Amino acid sequence: MTNDPSAQPTAPSSPDVERPYDEPTVTETETVDGATVDGNIHVGYWESDADDRSLDRATDRLTDLVAERLAGASGRHLLDVGCGTGRPALRIARATGARVSGISVSDQDIELARTRADATALADRVDFRYADACALPFEAASFDGAWAIESMMHIPDRTAALTEIARTLRPGSPLVITDVLLRSPVTGDAAEIVRRTCRAFQSPSLPGPDELRTALGRAGLEVVEFTDIGDRVRRTYQAFADAFEDVAPAEDDPHREFFNSTRSLPLFGALPQIGYAFLVARRL
Ligand SMILES: C[S@@+](CC[C@H](N)C(=O)[O-])C[C@H]1O[C@@H](n2cnc3c(N)ncnc32)[C@H](O)[C@@H]1O
Repeated sequence: MTNDPSAQPTAPSSPDVERPYDEPTVTETETVDGATVDGNIHVGYWESDADDRSLDRATDRLTDLVAERLAGASGRHLLDVGCGTGRPALRIARATGARVSGISVSDQDIELARTRADATALADRVDFRYADACALPFEAASFDGAWAIESMMHIPDRTAALTEIARTLRPGSPLVITDVLLRSPVTGDAAEIVRRTCRAFQSPSLPGPDELRTALGRAGLEVVEFTDIGDRVRRTYQAFADAFEDVAPAEDDPHREFFNSTRSLPLFGALPQIGYAFLVARRL
């Protein structure tokens, strides 16, 4: 491996958010932990301790759990908030039969997502554009459903983003959110590990369960399902660290903090306070 971030594997959760969003992302297809990780920028989901699926398949499995909550949207229009490089959008478009619009605050994401879509038969059912979740370029009640996979953790004002997402949803429509969750406050060494990881992953703070529930309520969204699947995704953090193990960033590498932080990801993932929210809300 080299010190050029564009030559590094795309790890399954959030490496691209370490960069300012307009800078080039890491490559979208590489081998991580012996498996091809092609564009999913989120954690993997393993059904049980005995589930030995690859990291790549586990990240798709998380996407499939989201798709299941949006089923019945055939012929309808869904919004992907923080679409990354488009793999979840294409997978969910395929699974649901819906039209999908994806947004991200990374031009590079949008370019890669469009290229990815053009290589499929779904190009006429998906579109991607640069937009901030707090200022969506869509009419009120445009969508029949929405999802946000690991984008809320990057947004400082989550109530503002959720209010804006709710505005674009038709009443009764579902919003699925999956994200790293801070189950309870951390202190001492644990707080330092969380602080360092947040900085590396460009997260102002990790959402807690009460914060998410309050923000959803204020946004006019009713929680219908809230599960902490932290123990089913935890394997991701070690896989992440393994993927970046050999990277020795140069002193002036702008991604140095991110690469260095990957070494302590297993510590982060092992913290009992770190969970993972899988929630479904409905626009009132
Ligand atoms: C960890 S990546 C997840 C990407 C994608 N959901 C996936 O699972 O592959 C976080 C995404 O959220 C996007 N994001 C961060 N802040 C955002 C904001 N304010 N508005 C829209 N997208 C945002 C980033 O650009 C990136 O695409």
